[in-house]
Amino acid sequence: MRKLKCAVVGYGDRGSRYSDYALKCPDELEVVAVVDPREVRRNAAKKAFSLPDEKVFVDIDKFLNVNIDCDFVINATMDQLHYITATKLIDKGFDLLLEKPITAVPDELKDLYERSKKKGTKIVVCHVLRYTPFYSEIKNIIESGKMGKVVNLQLNEHVWYGHFVNAYVRGKWKSSKECGSGLLLAKCCHDTDLICWLNNGAKPVSVSSFGSKSLYSEKNAPEGSTEYCYDCPKKGECPFNAYDFELKHDFIPFYTWIRINKPLDEITEEEKIEYLKTDDFGKCVYRSGMDIVDRQCVSVEFDNGSIATLNMIAAGNSAGRHIHVVCEWGEIIGYVEENKLTVRYFDKKKLAFDTEIVDLNEVNKLKGNDNSVTGHYGGDHFIMKDLVRFLQGEPVSSSTTTIEDSLSGHFVVYAAERARNERRVVDIKEFE
Ligand SMILES: NC(=O)c1ccc[n+]([C@@H]2O[C@H](COP(=O)([O-])OP(=O)(O)OC[C@H]3O[C@@H](n4cnc5c(N)ncnc54)[C@H](O)[C@@H]3O)[C@@H](O)[C@H]2O)c1
Repeated sequence: MRKLKCAVVGYGDRGSRYSDYALKCPDELEVVAVVDPREVRRNAAKKAFSLPDEKVFVDIDKFLNVNIDCDFVINATMDQLHYITATKLIDKGFDLLLEKPITAVPDELKDLYERSKKKGTKIVVCHVLRYTPFYSEIKNIIESGKMGKVVNLQLNEHVWYGHFVNAYVRGKWKSSKECGSGLLLAKCCHDTDLICWLNNGAKPVSVSSFGSKSLYSEKNAPEGSTEYCYDCPKKGECPFNAYDFELKHDFIPFYTWIRINKPLDEITEEEKIEYLKTDDFGKCVYRSGMDIVDRQCVSVEFDNGSIATLNMIAAGNSAGRHIHVVCEWGEIIGYVEENKLTVRYFDKKKLAFDTEIVDLNEVNKLKGNDNSVTGHYGGDHFIMKDLVRFLQGEPVSSSTTTIEDSLSGHFVVYAAERARNERRVVDIKEFE
């Protein structure tokens, strides 16, 4: 296999995770250029990949003007920048690894799809869960046909309160007006993608949805509390007080301290204390300006009569994705965090179910895969492994998610948001 060269546009959290593959598997991938307006990130990239100054760019236009020799570009900019940056890269003829969600605007999604088709460029979308041993095993079982057709898919995602506060209450996805995505798109376009992918080619036709925002609303703020935690008289009794929640517990440091613009290990405690006096991360969680829901359910009907439901519940005790697939002659049940599946096949002679427990660590080992890889249960690593093969025309897994494969999952989110806002059942045709 030839070693591929890639450039990274947006070397933040996600950009660095994907490009780390070049450090783990240097025979397969090399990072040859990076674009990021933040100096701290450009410096981190220079150090990680030994890049000379002339291969590190402040903006995408400067990068495009130089004609860097590379096989594909990782686009890991924030949600609202995907469209503008991806159009420029496609027009220049680059194949892309594009972060999800592709875009919150249906017309932009269609334009990117048409544009890449016309230009003949490949776009792989970062639906990393598809590549995990857990979900790919579910796909294999369904595809084997041993259980017959899918009747129903039930997916639940519980978002841990530490993640929810740092990403969606105080963090960069707190406002759909600013970042473009609502909670369902930002957090669960993976799950709507899984629903469509696992349902083996069936097309979603109608969607309904309910949701609301309640937990982190001003009505729940303790009486007498203030806009920022540092001078709040109620901080001693508030579990979300930024000086405990952010400074002491520091659940997700690469989210919290991002605007200090220094490498995390160089930020002093004094700098953090000052930062929390004016930054969103020091704000009262009940007055953060968050404009997204904190709970949502979605029901989907498919053209083959099968149905699916998804529950997204924020602020749970722990992070958890649960799935229960019911087929004509069997069921598959599991929590991705446990990396284990309960698989039940209906024995038509015995009129009873035979139960098998599938340990995905064992399955993965048998396939010769590395069980120690982390990041979305291994998905961040396995997507890169798949991508370098896909771009060279080698056989790939059924996980490979081109932009075309990702359309249905995005349409389900768009339809669910319209259904929730307009309180009606929405036909997917409104978006196709
Ligand atoms: N696949 C997944 O499971 C998953 C998980 C988390 C986030 N995401 C998505 O990944 C994307 C990136 O998220 P993140 O957490 O890495 O964000 P981030 O803020 O850490 O990284 C984005 C980077 O883009 C840079 N940037 C800003 N403007 C730019 C421009 N015009 N050109 C080039 N770079 C620019 C920023 O300086 C930053 O370093 C988002 O779309 C997010 O929703 C996906």
